[in-house]
Amino acid sequence: MSSVTAIASSSFVHATAVVDEGVIIGDGSRVWHFSHLGKGCRIGERCSLGQNVYVAPGVRIGSNVKIQNNVSIYEGVELHDDVFCGPSMVFTNVITPRSAFPRNTSAHYAKTIVKRGATIGANATIVCGHTIGEFGFVGAGAVVTHDVPPHAIVVGNPAKVIGYACTCGARLALEQGGAHCTGCAKLYRNIEGRLQAK
Ligand SMILES: CC(C)(COP(=O)(O)OP(=O)(O)OC[C@H]1O[C@@H](n2cnc3c(N)ncnc32)[C@H](O)[C@@H]1OP(=O)(O)O)[C@@H](O)C(=O)NCCC(=O)NCCS
Repeated sequence: MSSVTAIASSSFVHATAVVDEGVIIGDGSRVWHFSHLGKGCRIGERCSLGQNVYVAPGVRIGSNVKIQNNVSIYEGVELHDDVFCGPSMVFTNVITPRSAFPRNTSAHYAKTIVKRGATIGANATIVCGHTIGEFGFVGAGAVVTHDVPPHAIVVGNPAKVIGYACTCGARLALEQGGAHCTGCAKLYRNIEGRLQAK
């Protein structure tokens, strides 16, 4: 039986976008030119999906998520609230792909979780099976091959931690027992090696 697509009246889907059956698009979300939403995927509220974005069947995307042009969200990828995906960044979902040995069922897909508030810079690649922690920041062009700790800024190939970012995105200055934001001055305490806003 086919399921019904539900597009909130306050959301916008450009005429060139393709929306398959059973898709749910939350209030205030916008889907731009040539994007494709696969069967049964769910887009939260106030999201923006730029041009040529692909969301695979069944994928769930939180609220207030910004996905820039040319990004594909494959099965196995989870985007929590307030995530930012920069232009042309790349998710993966098969760790050892071979054309002659197809690994194209759910059982083959490794999970990638992008937690609340995280940013992935332009052209970065996330090797599947890893988690980007809350407010983690992946620099432009980075290749992520390990989990990214909460608030960590990672750059390079393979991506390494070069510092820590505030919820607002500015650098944190580390100090005894915690950190403060060099932008908005928010204070953090260091609890067992994890930064937590006060
Ligand atoms: C990672 C990032 C947030 C760091 O910004 P920052 O805190 O201002 O860091 P700085 O520019 O002071 O750079 C610090 C060092 O890291 C290096 N660096 C910064 N970004 C880098 C990146 N993406 N890849 C590799 N090295 C990087 C710098 O060259 C510098 O190295 P140096 O000390 O040897 O000179 C930023 O560079 C970045 O990549 N932002 C993402 C931009 C983007 O993709 N936007 C998409 C939407 S438009």
